[in-house]
Amino acid sequence: MHVVVAGPDELARAGADALEGALLARRDPVLGLATGSSPVPVYDELVRRHREGGLSFAGARAFLLDEYVGLPAEHPERYRNVIDRELVSHVDLDPARVHAPDGLARDLDAAAARYEQQIAAAGGVDVQILGIGTDGHIAFNEPGSPFDSRTRVGELTEQTRRDNARFFGGDVEAVPRRCLTQGLATIMSARRIVLLARGRAKAEAVRHMVEGPVSTAWPATVLQGHPDVTVLLDEEAASLLRRGDVVPLETAGR
Ligand code: GLP
Repeated sequence: MHVVVAGPDELARAGADALEGALLARRDPVLGLATGSSPVPVYDELVRRHREGGLSFAGARAFLLDEYVGLPAEHPERYRNVIDRELVSHVDLDPARVHAPDGLARDLDAAAARYEQQIAAAGGVDVQILGIGTDGHIAFNEPGSPFDSRTRVGELTEQTRRDNARFFGGDVEAVPRRCLTQGLATIMSARRIVLLARGRAKAEAVRHMVEGPVSTAWPATVLQGHPDVTVLLDEEAASLLRRGDVVPLETAGR
């Protein structure tokens, strides 16, 4: 794990560099995109590079990490709509090549299996962007999720529903109880992973992820076993680390 602590602009640039690297390396790159607030500055930076530098997403495909179950197709917080609003509609990424698990499917288990197949058929994810929940979840893999899990139906913890209520007008009851999420093994199959975390609320989960014993109690600890993970943190998110693991931005890889 490369752990970097930096200011907001540097973090956004480093995250964008990772996705740009994938876009330039292959004619048909596969991007793993995350929703939530953490990746937004990275997407803003990519939009800027597209507009000002001609960075093209034309050959790319993208897969989202997760989706709420049951939100109506036009609901603004449906993750497939969120990523359109934050990135896809601002760049030349073909919306038909952007995939999310189908949270409106009648047969959710079949939709989950189909999503796994789609990712595999695309050749797997080149660079996966991740955030982290305050309870250590990645995608919607809540504590207790098996490390060998694949895309499946999941249930959100009360903590996650409270955390995400801010996207639903502060109303916890409006936050769906179920989701479809890539599993931990699905995420671990990505060739490169870049995780972003900001703010004091993430510090405990970050400490477990970087320094804690690997345990399903803190799902993000599974990432300790991945060969190419970059963790991009602000000072507050890094505030509980012993700091032995922190490396300067320049040495954190491409
Ligand atoms: C949600 C998403 C996760 C995300 C997490 C953190 O629960 N399903 O993929 O990482 O929130 O969100 P934020 O970046 O807004 O703190």
